[in-house]
Parts: sequence; C-alpha cells; structure tokens
Amino acid sequence: MNMALAQRLDAQPEIGEFLRDVLEGLSEQQKTLPCKYLYDETGSRLFEQICELDDYYLTRTEATIFEENLGEMATCIGPEALIVEPGAGNCEKIQPLLEELESPSGYMPIDISPEILLTARDAIKERLPQIRVHATVGDFTQHSAWHALENNGGDRRVIFFPGSTIGNFNPEQARALLRNFSSHLEAGDGLLIGTDLVKDSVILERAYCDSEHVTEAFNKNLLVRINGELAGDFDPNLFAHRAFYHPLRQRVEMHLVSLKDQAVHIAGETIRFKEGETIHTENSHKYSLDDFHNLLTETGYIPQKHWCDGRRHYAIHYARVS
Ligand SMILES: C[S@@+](CC[C@H](N)C(=O)[O-])C[C@H]1O[C@@H](n2cnc3c(N)ncnc32)[C@H](O)[C@@H]1O
Repeated sequence: MNMALAQRLDAQPEIGEFLRDVLEGLSEQQKTLPCKYLYDETGSRLFEQICELDDYYLTRTEATIFEENLGEMATCIGPEALIVEPGAGNCEKIQPLLEELESPSGYMPIDISPEILLTARDAIKERLPQIRVHATVGDFTQHSAWHALENNGGDRRVIFFPGSTIGNFNPEQARALLRNFSSHLEAGDGLLIGTDLVKDSVILERAYCDSEHVTEAFNKNLLVRINGELAGDFDPNLFAHRAFYHPLRQRVEMHLVSLKDQAVHIAGETIRFKEGETIHTENSHKYSLDDFHNLLTETGYIPQKHWCDGRRHYAIHYARVS
C-alpha cells in the first residue's frame, strides 16, 4: 500500500470502510460495488444532470405529482411535523413542501455526500430562515446517522424519502430499511416515499442508458473515485456501461463490463477481470402499487394515500406508522 493512502486510512476511517467494501465486493464471484459510493461530489453533480435528462422520466414525473398534490400531502402530514430526509442530496424536493406545511418544527436532511449536503443546507437556511435545519453527513443505513433525532424526542416525525431511492435496495434490504426507518418513528408518525412503477422495459432502459451518456459517466466515475481515493489504476476506457431491465427481479441493473482480460490494482491488491466480466454497481427496483402497499404493511406502516401521474409511471405514498 502506498504511503499517502496509509496516512489517509489513519486520518479518515471512512476511507478504510470504502476500501474494505471495494475489496470485498470485487472478490465476489459476481463482482459488486455498493451503489452508495457512486455519490462523491462529482457523482452527485452527475446525478443532478441525470435528473435533467429527457430520457430520465423519474424526476420530472415525480415533480409533477408533487406540484399537483402538494396541498393534500401537507394535509396528510399535518401541523408541526419534524421532517427527516435520508439521502437528501441537494434538498431541492423538500422546499416547496416545507413552504406548504403548517408550522413544521424542523428539517433534518441526512446524506453521505458532504459537499452537496452542506451547500444545500446553507441554501435552505437562507430561503427558509424560519425553519430549524440540522444536517447530518452519514450513512442512513447506520444508526449513528440518526443521532440528531435524539434531541427532538417530543416532535411528530415524518420521513421524506423521494427519488425512488428505496429502489436501490433489493426487496429484503428494502424491508430491513423500512423497519429501520420505523424504529426512529412512533405510532402516528409518517412516511412520504416515492417509488418508480413497473413499466415498459424500453422506457426503463432508456432512462438508465441515456443518449447523452451522462449515466455512463456517473457509473464510470466510481472507477475514477477508486483511483483517486484508494490508489487504484482502473482505466475507465477499458470498461463499458451497461444497464438492462431484469423482468423477473423487476429491476434495472447497472453494470460495468470489462472490455478485455485485465488486472487492476487497488491499494496494492490485484483484481483480475475476464473479458465480458461485469461489476454490478446499482439496482433500481420497480414496484407495482399492490406490491409496495404490501411491503409497507409488512414493515409496520398503514398506507393512507398514494398519488400517481396519468401514465402510472411513478407513485408517491403516504403511510402512518401502526
Ligand atoms: C437517487 S439520489 C436521490 C437524491 C434526492 N433524494 C432526490 O430525490 O433527488 C440518492 C441520494 O442518497 C444519497 N445516499 C445514497 N446512499 C446513501 C446512504 N447509504 N446514506 C446516506 N446517503 C445516501 C446519495 O448521496 C444521493 O444524494
């Protein structure tokens, strides 16, 4: 291992965790990398560009559903709620809702990507100075990211989880995550969550393999990040972006395909790739309305209401903790 990396491992424990996850994922038979690592500063900016693409219908569709139903959503949430947003990114989606809500008691975004979250926190404080904002940089699947809630015991809480981020978790992980969310809530607290719906595979695949190649850059940025942070020597040009819909698993899978037999080094370890072998970098699970309602019910929530677009491409659900 080179000296610079050894020093960073000492100074930044999260780099050690990144290295462990990368080496572990790349030693599996089907090589994988956890999708949360797609979001460094460059990855988060690329994701913002993806959201603007014509091919990426998700953000646009979700935005329309929010615009058309904001009043009803605010009524479901009720007054004086503390809004917690895991994976908040640039915190843009919450702002119209915060403005619509009756006397929200505060807003707590959590995100793994510090640069984007802290810039967003400052912007939101400026735009909505009357709202108490507390941002946490951390992994929302870990208990430590939720510590700020401990000082807000009395507030009624609503978790806001848009963007179909739940789709990045396989059904078993999604079940565990929703239970984990409800462990931070009490009976009567709420969950406002966006899910992408099952649809024509042509529409789905175009969204994750866009004609402007931004998703390709987003996917390959993971290799660039490993090179920069973990002393790797990936040549991103020797990998191709691939995204396809798996109808049985009801998910779009994103992979990086090795274009030849090659060896890559990361922190002094050698990883070998056969031509055509892939690294599985992300899943985006799609749900039917019934499947998602069942998932909510199984994990301790009572679905209250859902809103869809006219083409039924996307849904936003409000559920209460039972
Ligand atoms: C698909 S984007 C959605 C962003 C935003 N919520 C939206 O709807 O546009 C996922 C966001 O979650 C963050 N993220 C992904 N996994 C995370 C994790 N395990 N803990 C904290 N943040 C995470 C990423 O940094 C990114 O900002």
